[in-house]
Amino acid sequence: MLSKKDFLAVADCSREEILALLKRSAEIKKGMPGKGPALPLQGRFVGLLFEKPSTRTRVSFEVAVRQMGGDTIFLSRRDIQMGRGEPIRDTARVLSRYLDALVVRTFGHHIVEELAEWSSIPVINGLTDLHHPCQVLADLFTLQEAGLDVTAIRAAWIGDGNNMANSWIEAARALGFSLALACPEGYEPAVDFNSDRITLSRNPKEVVRGADVISTDVWASMGQEDEAAVRAKAFAHYRVDGDLLAHAPERVFVLHCLPAHRGEEITDEVMESRHSLIWDQAENRLHVQKAILEMLMSHGPVDRP
Ligand code: CP
Ligand code: NVA
Repeated sequence: MLSKKDFLAVADCSREEILALLKRSAEIKKGMPGKGPALPLQGRFVGLLFEKPSTRTRVSFEVAVRQMGGDTIFLSRRDIQMGRGEPIRDTARVLSRYLDALVVRTFGHHIVEELAEWSSIPVINGLTDLHHPCQVLADLFTLQEAGLDVTAIRAAWIGDGNNMANSWIEAARALGFSLALACPEGYEPAVDFNSDRITLSRNPKEVVRGADVISTDVWASMGQEDEAAVRAKAFAHYRVDGDLLAHAPERVFVLHCLPAHRGEEITDEVMESRHSLIWDQAENRLHVQKAILEMLMSHGPVDRP
Protein backbone atom coordinates (compact mmCIF):
# COMPACT_ATOMS: atom_id res chain seq x y z
CA MET A 1 0.00 0.00 0.00
CA LEU A 2 1.20 3.51 -0.78
CA SER A 3 1.88 5.69 2.24
CA LYS A 4 -0.66 8.47 2.47
CA LYS A 5 0.11 11.77 0.80
CA ASP A 6 -1.19 15.13 1.95
CA PHE A 7 -1.48 18.32 -0.09
CA LEU A 8 -0.86 21.19 2.29
CA ALA A 9 1.27 23.42 0.07
CA VAL A 10 2.35 23.54 -3.57
CA ALA A 11 5.82 22.52 -2.38
CA ASP A 12 4.39 19.13 -1.33
CA CYS A 13 4.32 18.24 -5.04
CA SER A 14 7.31 17.78 -7.32
CA ARG A 15 7.52 19.53 -10.68
CA GLU A 16 6.50 16.22 -12.33
CA GLU A 17 3.50 15.81 -10.04
CA ILE A 18 2.31 19.36 -10.72
CA LEU A 19 2.62 18.87 -14.48
CA ALA A 20 0.84 15.50 -14.20
CA LEU A 21 -1.98 17.13 -12.22
CA LEU A 22 -2.38 19.84 -14.86
CA LYS A 23 -2.41 17.25 -17.64
CA ARG A 24 -4.96 15.13 -15.81
CA SER A 25 -7.13 18.21 -15.08
CA ALA A 26 -7.31 18.84 -18.85
CA GLU A 27 -8.32 15.21 -19.46
CA ILE A 28 -10.97 15.37 -16.73
CA LYS A 29 -12.37 18.60 -18.16
CA LYS A 30 -12.68 16.87 -21.54
CA GLY A 31 -14.48 13.92 -19.86
CA MET A 32 -11.66 11.42 -20.34
CA PRO A 33 -11.73 8.54 -17.82
CA GLY A 34 -8.76 7.79 -15.59
CA LYS A 35 -6.96 4.47 -15.24
CA GLY A 36 -9.04 3.41 -12.24
CA PRO A 37 -12.76 2.70 -11.89
CA ALA A 38 -15.33 4.92 -13.64
CA LEU A 39 -16.49 6.23 -10.24
CA PRO A 40 -13.20 6.27 -8.33
CA LEU A 41 -14.68 7.55 -5.06
CA GLN A 42 -17.65 5.18 -4.87
CA GLY A 43 -18.32 4.30 -1.24
CA ARG A 44 -15.81 6.88 -0.01
CA PHE A 45 -16.44 9.86 2.26
CA VAL A 46 -14.58 13.15 2.20
CA GLY A 47 -14.92 15.50 5.17
CA LEU A 48 -14.79 19.25 4.67
CA LEU A 49 -13.67 20.90 7.91
CA PHE A 50 -14.10 24.64 7.27
CA GLU A 51 -13.38 27.28 9.90
CA LYS A 52 -13.76 30.15 7.39
CA PRO A 53 -16.46 30.88 4.78
CA SER A 54 -16.16 29.57 1.23
CA THR A 55 -18.12 29.53 -2.00
CA ARG A 56 -15.77 28.09 -4.63
CA THR A 57 -13.64 25.71 -2.59
CA ARG A 58 -16.56 24.15 -0.73
CA VAL A 59 -18.88 23.81 -3.72
CA SER A 60 -16.19 22.61 -6.15
CA PHE A 61 -14.98 19.94 -3.70
CA GLU A 62 -18.51 18.81 -2.85
CA VAL A 63 -19.50 18.56 -6.52
CA ALA A 64 -16.17 16.94 -7.47
CA VAL A 65 -16.48 14.20 -4.83
CA ARG A 66 -20.11 13.43 -5.72
CA GLN A 67 -19.45 13.39 -9.46
CA MET A 68 -16.67 10.91 -8.70
CA GLY A 69 -19.16 8.64 -6.90
CA GLY A 70 -18.30 9.58 -3.32
CA ASP A 71 -20.04 11.64 -0.65
CA THR A 72 -19.08 14.59 1.53
CA ILE A 73 -19.70 15.68 5.10
CA PHE A 74 -19.42 19.41 5.75
CA LEU A 75 -18.10 20.28 9.21
CA SER A 76 -18.10 23.91 10.23
CA ARG A 77 -16.35 25.17 13.33
CA ARG A 78 -19.78 25.42 15.00
CA ASP A 79 -20.60 21.76 14.28
CA ILE A 80 -17.63 19.95 15.73
CA GLN A 81 -16.04 19.58 19.13
CA MET A 82 -12.72 20.97 17.86
CA GLY A 83 -14.50 24.35 17.81
CA ARG A 84 -14.92 24.08 21.58
CA GLY A 85 -11.43 22.89 22.30
CA GLU A 86 -11.19 19.16 21.54
CA PRO A 87 -7.51 18.65 20.71
CA ILE A 88 -6.60 18.74 17.00
CA ARG A 89 -4.76 15.42 17.27
CA ASP A 90 -7.81 13.68 18.78
CA THR A 91 -10.07 15.11 16.09
CA ALA A 92 -7.65 13.92 13.40
CA ARG A 93 -7.44 10.37 14.72
CA VAL A 94 -11.20 10.01 15.15
CA LEU A 95 -12.10 11.50 11.75
CA SER A 96 -9.57 9.13 10.16
CA ARG A 97 -11.63 6.20 11.44
CA TYR A 98 -14.72 7.36 9.52
CA LEU A 99 -13.52 9.30 6.50
CA ASP A 100 -11.31 8.60 3.48
CA ALA A 101 -9.93 12.15 3.06
CA LEU A 102 -10.24 15.52 4.74
CA VAL A 103 -10.28 18.98 3.16
CA VAL A 104 -9.46 21.71 5.67
CA ARG A 105 -9.93 25.48 5.57
CA THR A 106 -8.59 27.18 8.65
CA PHE A 107 -6.49 30.03 10.09
CA GLY A 108 -2.99 29.03 11.25
CA HIS A 109 -1.15 26.68 8.91
CA HIS A 110 0.02 24.70 11.96
CA ILE A 111 -3.59 23.51 12.39
CA VAL A 112 -3.68 21.79 9.01
CA GLU A 113 -0.16 20.44 9.61
CA GLU A 114 -1.19 18.94 12.95
CA LEU A 115 -4.35 17.46 11.42
CA ALA A 116 -2.23 15.90 8.67
CA GLU A 117 0.35 14.58 11.11
CA TRP A 118 -2.25 12.77 13.22
CA SER A 119 -4.56 11.64 10.40
CA SER A 120 -4.13 8.35 8.60
CA ILE A 121 -6.10 9.74 5.62
CA PRO A 122 -4.96 12.33 3.04
CA VAL A 123 -5.43 15.93 4.20
CA ILE A 124 -5.92 18.68 1.62
CA ASN A 125 -5.39 22.35 2.38
CA GLY A 126 -8.46 24.28 1.22
CA LEU A 127 -6.79 27.53 2.41
CA THR A 128 -4.87 28.60 5.47
CA ASP A 129 -3.45 32.00 6.38
CA LEU A 130 -0.18 30.82 4.79
CA HIS A 131 -1.11 28.89 1.63
CA HIS A 132 -3.89 28.31 -0.91
CA PRO A 133 -2.38 25.53 -3.04
CA CYS A 134 -5.53 24.14 -4.74
CA GLN A 135 -6.33 27.62 -6.04
CA VAL A 136 -2.87 28.17 -7.52
CA LEU A 137 -3.00 24.81 -9.30
CA ALA A 138 -6.32 25.92 -10.85
CA ASP A 139 -4.68 29.22 -11.83
CA LEU A 140 -1.84 27.39 -13.58
CA PHE A 141 -4.28 25.06 -15.32
CA THR A 142 -6.27 28.09 -16.54
CA LEU A 143 -3.14 29.64 -18.03
CA GLN A 144 -2.15 26.35 -19.67
CA GLU A 145 -5.65 26.11 -21.15
CA ALA A 146 -5.23 29.66 -22.49
CA GLY A 147 -2.22 28.43 -24.44
CA LEU A 148 0.71 29.37 -22.16
CA ASP A 149 3.62 27.12 -21.22
CA VAL A 150 3.42 27.35 -17.44
CA THR A 151 7.06 26.40 -17.03
CA ALA A 152 8.09 29.54 -18.93
CA ILE A 153 5.54 32.24 -18.05
CA ARG A 154 6.38 35.68 -16.73
CA ALA A 155 3.88 36.14 -13.91
CA ALA A 156 3.17 39.33 -11.96
CA TRP A 157 1.61 39.45 -8.50
CA ILE A 158 0.13 42.79 -7.39
CA GLY A 159 -0.89 43.53 -3.78
CA ASP A 160 -0.71 41.60 -0.55
CA GLY A 161 2.05 39.06 0.08
CA ASN A 162 -0.65 36.71 1.39
CA ASN A 163 -1.54 33.00 1.19
CA MET A 164 -2.07 33.25 -2.58
CA ALA A 165 1.26 35.03 -3.11
CA ASN A 166 3.03 32.37 -1.03
CA SER A 167 1.54 29.56 -3.13
CA TRP A 168 2.47 31.42 -6.34
CA ILE A 169 6.05 31.65 -5.07
CA GLU A 170 6.16 27.90 -4.41
CA ALA A 171 4.73 27.24 -7.88
CA ALA A 172 7.39 29.49 -9.47
CA ARG A 173 10.12 27.62 -7.58
CA ALA A 174 8.77 24.20 -8.56
CA LEU A 175 8.18 24.95 -12.24
CA GLY A 176 10.94 27.51 -12.81
CA PHE A 177 8.81 30.33 -14.25
CA SER A 178 9.53 33.95 -13.40
CA LEU A 179 7.44 35.81 -10.85
CA ALA A 180 7.60 39.55 -10.20
CA LEU A 181 5.77 40.69 -7.07
CA ALA A 182 4.74 44.23 -6.18
CA CYS A 183 3.81 44.44 -2.49
CA PRO A 184 3.80 47.47 -0.16
CA GLU A 185 6.36 47.68 2.62
CA GLY A 186 5.26 45.56 5.57
CA TYR A 187 3.10 43.27 3.40
CA GLU A 188 5.80 41.04 1.89
CA PRO A 189 5.25 37.27 1.47
CA ALA A 190 6.02 35.06 4.47
CA VAL A 191 7.70 32.28 2.48
CA ASP A 192 11.27 32.54 1.24
CA PHE A 193 11.23 34.24 -2.17
CA ASN A 194 14.96 34.53 -2.58
CA SER A 195 15.58 33.31 -6.15
CA ASP A 196 16.95 34.65 -9.44
CA ARG A 197 13.55 34.32 -11.05
CA ILE A 198 11.47 35.83 -8.20
CA THR A 199 11.67 39.58 -7.60
CA LEU A 200 9.96 41.99 -5.22
CA SER A 201 9.25 45.62 -6.10
CA ARG A 202 7.22 48.53 -4.74
CA ASN A 203 6.21 49.55 -8.25
CA PRO A 204 3.25 47.69 -9.85
CA LYS A 205 3.84 49.41 -13.22
CA GLU A 206 7.35 48.03 -13.34
CA VAL A 207 6.33 44.43 -12.53
CA VAL A 208 3.57 44.20 -15.17
CA ARG A 209 5.94 45.26 -17.96
CA GLY A 210 6.52 42.10 -20.01
CA ALA A 211 4.06 40.03 -17.94
CA ASP A 212 2.02 37.21 -19.47
CA VAL A 213 -0.33 37.20 -16.51
CA ILE A 214 -1.23 39.58 -13.69
CA SER A 215 -2.75 38.13 -10.52
CA THR A 216 -4.17 39.94 -7.55
CA ASP A 217 -6.28 39.29 -4.47
CA VAL A 218 -8.13 41.17 -1.74
CA TRP A 219 -6.21 43.64 0.39
CA ALA A 220 -7.63 42.21 3.65
CA SER A 221 -7.94 38.43 3.76
CA MET A 222 -10.37 36.45 5.92
CA GLY A 223 -9.48 37.11 9.55
CA GLN A 224 -7.94 40.52 8.75
CA GLU A 225 -11.21 42.46 8.56
CA ASP A 226 -10.17 44.76 11.45
CA GLU A 227 -7.16 45.92 9.42
CA ALA A 228 -9.21 46.83 6.34
CA ALA A 229 -8.95 50.63 6.71
CA VAL A 230 -5.19 50.61 7.36
CA ARG A 231 -4.65 48.21 4.49
CA ALA A 232 -6.80 50.26 2.09
CA LYS A 233 -4.33 53.14 2.57
CA ALA A 234 -1.23 50.99 2.22
CA PHE A 235 -2.52 49.32 -0.97
CA ALA A 236 -4.03 52.40 -2.67
CA HIS A 237 -1.38 52.32 -5.44
CA TYR A 238 -1.67 48.57 -5.95
CA ARG A 239 -4.99 48.44 -7.83
CA VAL A 240 -5.30 46.40 -11.02
CA ASP A 241 -7.06 48.92 -13.26
CA GLY A 242 -6.99 50.11 -16.86
CA ASP A 243 -4.10 52.45 -16.10
CA LEU A 244 -1.95 49.57 -14.81
CA LEU A 245 -2.89 47.34 -17.76
CA ALA A 246 -1.70 50.10 -20.12
CA HIS A 247 1.83 49.30 -18.87
CA ALA A 248 1.48 45.57 -19.60
CA PRO A 249 1.67 43.73 -22.94
CA GLU A 250 -1.44 43.93 -25.08
CA ARG A 251 -2.13 40.18 -24.68
CA VAL A 252 -1.73 40.02 -20.89
CA PHE A 253 -4.14 37.80 -18.94
CA VAL A 254 -5.64 38.78 -15.57
CA LEU A 255 -6.48 36.35 -12.75
CA HIS A 256 -8.25 36.84 -9.42
CA CYS A 257 -9.08 33.89 -7.14
CA LEU A 258 -12.31 35.60 -5.95
CA PRO A 259 -14.14 36.85 -3.99
CA ALA A 260 -13.14 40.28 -5.34
CA HIS A 261 -13.70 43.66 -3.78
CA ARG A 262 -14.53 45.42 -7.03
CA GLY A 263 -13.17 48.95 -7.08
CA GLU A 264 -10.52 48.13 -4.47
CA GLU A 265 -7.82 45.70 -5.67
CA ILE A 266 -9.40 45.32 -9.13
CA THR A 267 -11.85 47.38 -11.17
CA ASP A 268 -15.06 46.23 -12.84
CA GLU A 269 -13.54 47.31 -16.13
CA VAL A 270 -10.62 44.85 -15.78
CA MET A 271 -12.73 42.01 -14.38
CA GLU A 272 -15.06 42.19 -17.36
CA SER A 273 -12.35 42.88 -19.96
CA ARG A 274 -11.02 40.51 -22.64
CA HIS A 275 -7.89 40.12 -20.47
CA SER A 276 -9.86 38.42 -17.69
CA LEU A 277 -9.75 34.61 -17.29
CA ILE A 278 -11.47 34.90 -13.91
CA TRP A 279 -14.61 32.89 -14.69
CA ASP A 280 -12.69 30.02 -16.31
CA GLN A 281 -10.34 30.18 -13.33
CA ALA A 282 -13.29 29.70 -10.95
CA GLU A 283 -14.75 26.84 -13.04
CA ASN A 284 -11.38 25.13 -13.19
CA ARG A 285 -11.34 24.67 -9.42
CA LEU A 286 -13.78 21.78 -10.05
CA HIS A 287 -11.64 19.98 -12.63
CA VAL A 288 -8.39 20.47 -10.72
CA GLN A 289 -9.98 19.37 -7.43
CA LYS A 290 -10.89 16.07 -9.14
CA ALA A 291 -7.31 15.56 -10.31
CA ILE A 292 -6.06 16.26 -6.77
CA LEU A 293 -8.56 13.81 -5.24
CA GLU A 294 -7.61 11.16 -7.80
CA MET A 295 -3.93 11.62 -7.05
CA LEU A 296 -4.27 11.51 -3.27
CA MET A 297 -6.89 8.81 -3.15
CA SER A 298 -4.73 6.49 -5.24
CA HIS A 299 -6.33 6.26 -8.63
CA GLY A 300 -4.34 9.01 -10.25
CA PRO A 301 -1.16 10.08 -11.96
CA VAL A 302 1.24 9.29 -9.09
CA ASP A 303 -0.22 5.80 -8.83
CA ARG A 304 0.39 4.95 -12.46
CA PRO A 305 3.28 2.72 -13.52
N1 CP B 1 -11.05 31.33 -4.31
C1 CP B 1 -11.61 30.71 -3.27
O1 CP B 1 -10.98 29.91 -2.58
O2 CP B 1 -12.90 31.06 -3.06
P1 CP B 1 -13.79 30.66 -1.80
O3 CP B 1 -13.27 31.46 -0.62
O4 CP B 1 -15.18 31.08 -2.19
O5 CP B 1 -13.66 29.20 -1.56
N1 NVA C 1 -6.41 35.78 0.45
C1 NVA C 1 -7.83 35.49 0.51
C2 NVA C 1 -8.16 34.40 -0.45
C3 NVA C 1 -9.63 34.03 -0.50
C4 NVA C 1 -9.91 32.88 -1.42
C5 NVA C 1 -8.21 35.10 1.93
O1 NVA C 1 -7.44 34.36 2.56
O2 NVA C 1 -9.25 35.55 2.41
